[in-house]
Amino acid sequence: MVRHFLDLYRLTPADLRAILDDARDRKAARQGWPKGRVDADAPARDHVLAMIFEKNSTRTRFSFDAAIRQLGGDAIIANASDMQLGRGETVEDTARVLSRMVDAVMIRANSHEDVVRFAQASSVPVINGLTDKSHPCQIIADLMTIEERLGPISGRTLAWVGDGNNVCASLIHAAPLLGYQLNIACPADYHPDLFDLQRGGNYVSLGSDPEVAVEGADVVITDTWVSMGDQDHEARLHAFEPYAVDDRLMSLATDGAIFLHCLPAHRGEEVTDDVLDGPQSAVWDEAENRIHAQKAVIAWCLRG
Ligand code: CP
Ligand code: NVA
Repeated sequence: MVRHFLDLYRLTPADLRAILDDARDRKAARQGWPKGRVDADAPARDHVLAMIFEKNSTRTRFSFDAAIRQLGGDAIIANASDMQLGRGETVEDTARVLSRMVDAVMIRANSHEDVVRFAQASSVPVINGLTDKSHPCQIIADLMTIEERLGPISGRTLAWVGDGNNVCASLIHAAPLLGYQLNIACPADYHPDLFDLQRGGNYVSLGSDPEVAVEGADVVITDTWVSMGDQDHEARLHAFEPYAVDDRLMSLATDGAIFLHCLPAHRGEEVTDDVLDGPQSAVWDEAENRIHAQKAVIAWCLRG
């Protein structure tokens, strides 16, 4: 069985825990090392990862490239628009060809369905590097950051404020696996997918009041109000105005609560400078942890 990493709800709790523990251990084992040094066990030695991007990326692109190098492997990176994929070659044929040339593929795609189809035709592991529906790699880094700052996440309360988007979906998917409570506050027109809410079950609550969601939360998380591919820019800015995370909102969370944002941030929209740059913000650790998280995901895929 090829081990794809497409969505967190497809993992067992033990798989997710193993990935988080490996990410933590790999980070600890290389404290003070230069970023290009290869991990002692080099689990991706002799392996090549292909990365395909249909959308822009800074963190995912650099962290995956750094990750595969630290694991002892190599990367080939391409924008989809430069590939025959961009001229109509099918997803399936692309998957069949790349399966003969590389050992794993990471894809950032417009359509989630395309990544699922790619995986179905691929004989090597496929990793979802963000789609319109989910962003599981981001949430591995987020969960890792939360446990780094606050200890075990089980029993903690997380508040998601803003758009019920792809990042929110992956945060929902992990809630039943790890046993945290997720309070979501978003405008009615921008709530998460109903299938995803079902996947979250009793671990997820949905409302429209940011103060209710944040009250007593250990972690406050938001994301851009306009994701890549969203068309209704003006309508979104208007609808999300009451959902900005500022110091007043953060003051309703627990003492010691942390703030997370997958980045890129739109300062002055979904979050104020004071919060993003303030003492509760863990966003730079969160961004760094993309490398450690990605390494654990790649290693998990290759172990399969
Ligand atoms: N958070 C995240 O995925 O960032 P990039 O879009 O820069 O990859
Ligand atoms: N929700 C954002 C995340 C970017 C990392 C988007 O899809 O554009």
